[in-house]
Amino acid sequence: MNEETRARRHLLDRIREDRLVTRRDYLRLLVTVSGGLLAGTIAVASGIFRRHGTETGAARKVADSVATGESFTFSYPGPDDPAIGMRLDDDSLVAYSSVCTHLACAVLWIKESGKLECPCHNGVFDARSGDVLAGPPPRPLPKIELRERSDGIYAGGGSA
Ligand code: FES
Repeated sequence: MNEETRARRHLLDRIREDRLVTRRDYLRLLVTVSGGLLAGTIAVASGIFRRHGTETGAARKVADSVATGESFTFSYPGPDDPAIGMRLDDDSLVAYSSVCTHLACAVLWIKESGKLECPCHNGVFDARSGDVLAGPPPRPLPKIELRERSDGIYAGGGSA
C-alpha cells in the first residue's frame, strides 16, 4: 500500500467516523427534544403552569373579622395560592389573588391610596375591581369571592 492510498483510506475512515458521530448527535438531540416535549406536555396536563387564583374551591374560613380599611392575607384555593382581602371604606369585602399578573411579585394593600400596589415595577390595581390602573401588569388580579358569616369571613364556595 503506497502513501497516497494510505492517506485516502485514512481520510475515508475519518469521514465515516464523522458521519457516525453526526448520527449519534442527531439521535441524542432527537431524544432530548422529544423528552423535553413529553415532559412539557405532562406538566401542562397536570396543571403545573396554571395561573394563580383562576380556580374555584370549596368555601373555607379565611379570617375571623377585618376592620374597615384593613387587610388580611390568606391562601386560596390552595395552600400555594397567596391572596389578599380587604374591607373597603363602604364596608364591602373584596379579595384577590395577591400574585401580580406581570411577573408574579406580591401585591400590597396601600390603605392611604385605597389601591393594591406591586412594588416590583410599580403596578397599581383598583381595589374594587382588581383592574390595572397603572404599570405593566397585562391583566386584572383574579377576584376571590368573600362572604361574611356570623363566625367569620369565608372565601369561595358560592353559598353562604
Ligand atoms: S411584577 Fe408586578 S408590576 Fe411587575
